[in-house]
Amino acid sequence: MENQTKKTVVVTGGSDGIGASAARALVKEGHRVILVGRNPDKTAKIAAELGCPYHLADYARLSDVVRLAAELAEYDRIDVLANNAGGAQKERVLTEDGFERTFQINLLAQFLLTRLLLDKLAASRATVIQTASIAANLFGADFDPADPESEENYTPFRAYGRAKLGDVLFTRELQKRCGDRGISAVAFEPGVVRTNFGSESTAFVRFCYHTPLKYLFTISPEKSARRLTRLAVGAPGADFTPGEFYSEKKPYRLKFRDPDGSAAASLWDACASRLTKYL
Ligand SMILES: NC(=O)c1ccc[n+]([C@@H]2O[C@H](COP(=O)([O-])OP(=O)(O)OC[C@H]3O[C@@H](n4cnc5c(N)ncnc54)[C@H](OP(=O)(O)O)[C@@H]3O)[C@@H](O)[C@H]2O)c1
Repeated sequence: MENQTKKTVVVTGGSDGIGASAARALVKEGHRVILVGRNPDKTAKIAAELGCPYHLADYARLSDVVRLAAELAEYDRIDVLANNAGGAQKERVLTEDGFERTFQINLLAQFLLTRLLLDKLAASRATVIQTASIAANLFGADFDPADPESEENYTPFRAYGRAKLGDVLFTRELQKRCGDRGISAVAFEPGVVRTNFGSESTAFVRFCYHTPLKYLFTISPEKSARRLTRLAVGAPGADFTPGEFYSEKKPYRLKFRDPDGSAAASLWDACASRLTKYL
């Protein structure tokens, strides 16, 4: 591979599942991967296997995200930021920052990391990828940008669906606000994937994902990771449309209607207003 086609790719949620598989595939293709994980042992193990640097952050603690951003800003460039860390929870709990946990780890922390790295990302003309979910359509339809933390009508599935819908709206708004700075934002749904997903969620989700039942309806993390790596190595405008939400190679139709972009703009403001002490 020629030097100029090698990319520096930050993969969050890189200690397991889709992120670890994507990191393996990218390293195999000669790209420089910077791994981000939560669990020190798991993250160090994958980083050692791949021979890549790693950083640690628990997204349930925003001070970790701020430190992570400062560490990542030290790299000479970031061509791709894959905001892939996340997962479903089993009940409505607040983080030590005072925000609903599903919202924080799937959207707010990723919003913060991206915002803190904007100058670096713009200088690298980076692609910013959100790992969203079909849950955005299944459970996110009643999303209210004025209530992103699901104070009303909370269920674990709704909170997860709303946070993942939030990732898609964030992608659109990031593209709108920062596309002219050279940033290309894109979201994708990874399929239903047999990973460690759901280990912190309800008994039902754990039953579906962590018993042999999973072989009936899931795809492998390696197969799913190809959706991420296609976007990571692809050329914006040629291989994907910036601002779009994908499933495999095709755009995925979002059921939530936001024709004038006002919900995406409100959500951006709702996230920013919660982060004034950091931004
Ligand atoms: N699997 C599916 O069917 C499916 C479907 C749709 C969307 N997704 C999304 O795909 C992404 C990757 O999930 P996966 O399926 O690969 O599951 P996974 O195997 O559980 O991997 C999730 C990754 O996110 C990290 N993570 C979880 N909570 C975190 C936190 N509070 N702070 C920082 N990192 C955290 C995990 O770290 P640890 O190793 O420490 O747990 C792990 O590296 C997630 O955003 C998930 O919501 C998955």
